[in-house]
Parts: sequence; structure tokens; C-alpha cells
Amino acid sequence: MRILGIESSCDETAAAVIEDGRKILSNVVNSQIDIHTLYGGVVPEVAARSHIEVINPVINQALSEANLTWDDIDAIAVTYAPGLIGSLLVGTLAARTLALLKNKPLFPIHHVEAHVYANFLNEQAPKFPMLALIVSGGHSQLVLFKDHGDYELLGQTQDDAVGEAFDKVAKIIGLPYPGGPSIAKAALVGDPYKYKLPKARMQNPYDFSFSGLKTAVLRTVQKEVGVDFTFPSHELSARLNDVQRADFAASFQRTAVETLIDRAEKAFNDYAPASVVIAGGVAANQELRRQLSDRLPLHIDYAPMNLCTDNAAMIATLGYYYAQKMEPTDPLDLEVVPSLSMTKTAWALNKSAN
Ligand code: KG4
Ligand code: ZN
Repeated sequence: MRILGIESSCDETAAAVIEDGRKILSNVVNSQIDIHTLYGGVVPEVAARSHIEVINPVINQALSEANLTWDDIDAIAVTYAPGLIGSLLVGTLAARTLALLKNKPLFPIHHVEAHVYANFLNEQAPKFPMLALIVSGGHSQLVLFKDHGDYELLGQTQDDAVGEAFDKVAKIIGLPYPGGPSIAKAALVGDPYKYKLPKARMQNPYDFSFSGLKTAVLRTVQKEVGVDFTFPSHELSARLNDVQRADFAASFQRTAVETLIDRAEKAFNDYAPASVVIAGGVAANQELRRQLSDRLPLHIDYAPMNLCTDNAAMIATLGYYYAQKMEPTDPLDLEVVPSLSMTKTAWALNKSAN
């Protein structure tokens, strides 16, 4: 079964063709990073406009790179939740129109869950029960998958997502957007023990909180450069030198990564999963991978970097498993849902029927 996946929930326009949920026939990603770098973050209206400009060429490129025509495509899978509403609308409208025109079954996919499915493109598919640490710009969650579509949310962030914390801390210390990769790079030459930053304790041992850590970085930078807490945060970075910047990047990254792994280790000990996967943009972080492999007593197969950040291969991959158990959606009825937990989709709620 060949599925065309379409993704446009944030600032990447992507299309991919996946065969039987395993084989990548094409994987096209058009990133808007250059445009949003000008503003230091994603501007929703600019993102939606840019998706409109490239969505058709990106889909056509995915077909031509796979050497396929529409006759070879069995179904379309598209991200319908969660994300920026204007961005989601572009991808879903394209998918709905194509499903009608080309007479293809259409499957609605949850973006965050799809991040986990990047791991099903590894040489060995992960085994159930599978513990997933989901760490993106919008989500930080620990989810126990018993089977496809059958999972339990063990814990999640109570405030900022970890990727958001990387992005905000990068802004404070004067590193370019997106913050995750620039902090990881600066941290390579920094001292991870230079600044002592707090790890939040939560009532639910699997929950996270990153907003206190971000504020602690802000206060520590203010102290380091000798100003009080009323000093504007956007003027701080100019007072830091490169050594301080690298030490802050390394100290923040160490604390954020340890916070994630403490929770994952506890869930691993409590639930004894057969596999552990990490998913989402922050899963590209090498320090996270290194520390997780050090701390957990099982082999972890990591997805390649380009499948950790937003892409449509993961959408088509989840679409394949979805298509085994679910009826297609009527293209005339599919609506976007900008905010939706993966435990609340029709697919997840259908688990008793699975
Ligand atoms: O999953 P993603 O591409 O988009 C969302 O669905 O949110 O994640 C984007 C997030 C951003 O916050 C970015 O800074 C972070 O992933 N990120 C990283 C790295 N690469 C991307 N964070 C830490 N280390 C990285 N190497
Ligand atoms: Zn994402």
C-alpha cells in the first residue's frame, strides 16, 4: 500500500510517499526557517502564506521523486491536528481536494503521534509495549503504547514544552532561531556544570515543567552580567561573551535533558516496556540520545535527524497503520483541530474496537 503523506502544521511544508508503512519512496520537506529567522520565531500568517505558495509543487515533487503517478497512490494521509490553524488549513484543503479529484481514501493524522511513527521507519520496528518520550516545540509527553492506536498518557508538561524552553533560552542568551540546534552547537564548547539550574519536582512523577528552568536562566544571566530582575531580557544577550553564552547553553541543556531522562527512567522501571523511542524535534538532540542510552539498560534505535523534525514520511507511516483499522474520512467533512491531545482522536478513542 502506497500512501502520500502531507504535513503543514507549523513551518515546514512536506509531502512523502511511503510503501507499507516501512519504505520511504520519497520525502520532500520545504522549510521556512530562513523566513522566520528574520522575526526570531514562527509568524503564523507568514507561515500560512508560504505553505500556500509551495504546497502543490512539494506534493508534485514527492510523486516525481518516487517515480510515481496518481494511479500508483492508494491513499492520502494528512495532518489535521494539532498546529497553527492557518497552516493546518492549507495542507488539509490540498489533501481534501486531491482525495476528491483523484478518488483516494483520506486519513486524518495527529501530528504528535506521527512523530513517534518516525521510529517505525527504522530497520527494526519498535516492539510493544513501547515507551515514547515525545519532545517537540509544542509537546513534552511520556506515552506508553500497548499497540497501534492503544496508548496511555503517563505524564506531560504542565507549562512550556521542552523545545519551547530551548527556543526561549536561546533568545535570552543571544543564539539564533531555532534555539534547539543553536544551543546544542554552543553547548559543545561550554561547561555543563558552570551554572546550577533547578529541576522542577512535580506531583505526578512523569510530569514535566520547564518554565521555572527558563526563568532561572534569565535570573542567572541577569546576576552574571550584574543587573537586577527589572533589566529587559532582550538587552541581556549583548552583555554576554561567547564563553558565558556557551556555558549557559551547556548548563541549560544538561539540566533540561536530565529532567527528561529522570522521568523516562522512572517510567521505564515502573512499566518495563519492550522498547523505548524518542520523538519530536528535540529528539534530534545528541546529548539527549547519549544520556538516554547511558541511563537505560536496553538498546535504543534512534530515528535519523531528518525524520525527527517535521516531515511527511512520519504522517504517511502512521497513515498506513491507521488505514489497517479505520475507515477513511469523508473529504467534505474533515476539519482541522488546532489543539487536540493525541488521546482524544477518533483513532485513540476507537482502541476498544481495535
Ligand atoms: O517537532 P518539531 O520539528 O516541531 C513541532 O512539532 O514542534 O520541533 C521543533 C523543536 C524546536 O523547539 C527546536 O528548537 C527543537 O525542536 N529542536 C532541537 C534540536 N533540533 C530541533 N532541540 C534540541 N536539540 C536539537 N538538536
Ligand atoms: Zn512536530
